Amino acid sequence: EIEKIHAREILDSRGNPTVEVDVYTCCGFGRAAVPSGASTGTHEALELRDGGDRYDGKGVLKAVKNVNEVIAPELLGMDASCQREIDDLMINMDGTANKANLGANSILGVSIAMAKAAAMSSGVPLYKYLGGVNTVTLPIPSFNVLNGGKHAGNELSIQEFMIQPTGAKTFSEGLRMAAETYHALGKILQGKYGVGATNVGYEGGYAPPLIKTRDALDAIMSAFDVSGYGDEIKIGLDAAASSFYMEGGYSVDGNRLSPGELIDYYVDLVNTYPIILLEDPFEEEAYDDFARLTAKLPGTIIVGDDLYVTNIKRLEKGIKMCAGNALLLKLNQIGTVSEAFDAARMSFRSGWKVMASHRSAETEDSALADVAVALGCELLKTGAPARSERTAKYNQLLRIQEDLGEAARYACI
Ligand code: PGA
Ligand code: ZN
Repeated sequence: EIEKIHAREILDSRGNPTVEVDVYTCCGFGRAAVPSGASTGTHEALELRDGGDRYDGKGVLKAVKNVNEVIAPELLGMDASCQREIDDLMINMDGTANKANLGANSILGVSIAMAKAAAMSSGVPLYKYLGGVNTVTLPIPSFNVLNGGKHAGNELSIQEFMIQPTGAKTFSEGLRMAAETYHALGKILQGKYGVGATNVGYEGGYAPPLIKTRDALDAIMSAFDVSGYGDEIKIGLDAAASSFYMEGGYSVDGNRLSPGELIDYYVDLVNTYPIILLEDPFEEEAYDDFARLTAKLPGTIIVGDDLYVTNIKRLEKGIKMCAGNALLLKLNQIGTVSEAFDAARMSFRSGWKVMASHRSAETEDSALADVAVALGCELLKTGAPARSERTAKYNQLLRIQEDLGEAARYACI
């Protein structure tokens, strides 16, 4: 039974305010903090900000008040384990399609804290509470080791250069291989471009002063040579293409490309480098171009982030069109745990993969790791193997692996 719900304003990893919620039940407690994006999709649920001068308009006191004065009174006395009922109630109280009244940040804070409190009450870890007793598979981590786009102060068009230790035997071995490769990459960038090249972007990946995608990829290939994991680790790119799209064309590497030319560009990259995954290769309405690329690269994981925004209506359309073959799962794009689970399950049912994801502004909250394991996501991206708001999630996966012991499995793709 829910006894108390209390929200407060805290800071995220970019130094901006965000919502944190505490839920108390008779024998449980849950605390959750909400992340925030920089390259957000147009169709995401609304993040309620105060406006005005305070924190440059980014305060979340209205969202905090919505939790404490509007949501909390309605939920007190309910059973915290009735996740779906609680999420539905908040969705109905808000009454809009994009959670514009109460704010997705207030609703999601309550939704995740509720799951944590209920897990503690039932005496099982969050991943098992949400996923059931047969939950044993840890996702392949996708480490963002080099940042560009809106996440870095350089001129790279592609936002995220990620590495996936697909050939590791266990999650912890993959984490070590990736961390060693990350450090090798740092030394290579420093040697080639100077000390400033190891400054990092929003997600902890290096942000070297590069312009061309291939220069970034070549540096990563050199890091594989040094770390020695060239066979075990693959590459994934999040283009976040809406951020370099304008009036029908894409600005990449200093050139302006048509959608057709951009397809050829990606095919060329996939044929040259060990790239297994492309996220948001086109802007957020380009279902057709996603479908064309997916048909051209049948062996590549094509992930929709801004295109699907963890929304089953948009995803349903994309699945019908074969516009990609994987969903990027971000809880704050949709605003409740239940709706995010619906989106993940729709993907799995259609034979699509799911990559659980952090946001570029994060907190010390590690629930994302539990969610990824609970759902059996094949992949999880939560930044570089560095910076505590990123490693909070990877370290939680280490704890889950330990908790599972011999039963632990490592996903394969
Ligand atoms: P965001 O970036 O959190 O800034 O939206 C993450 C992504 O595009 O995947
Ligand atoms: Zn993305």
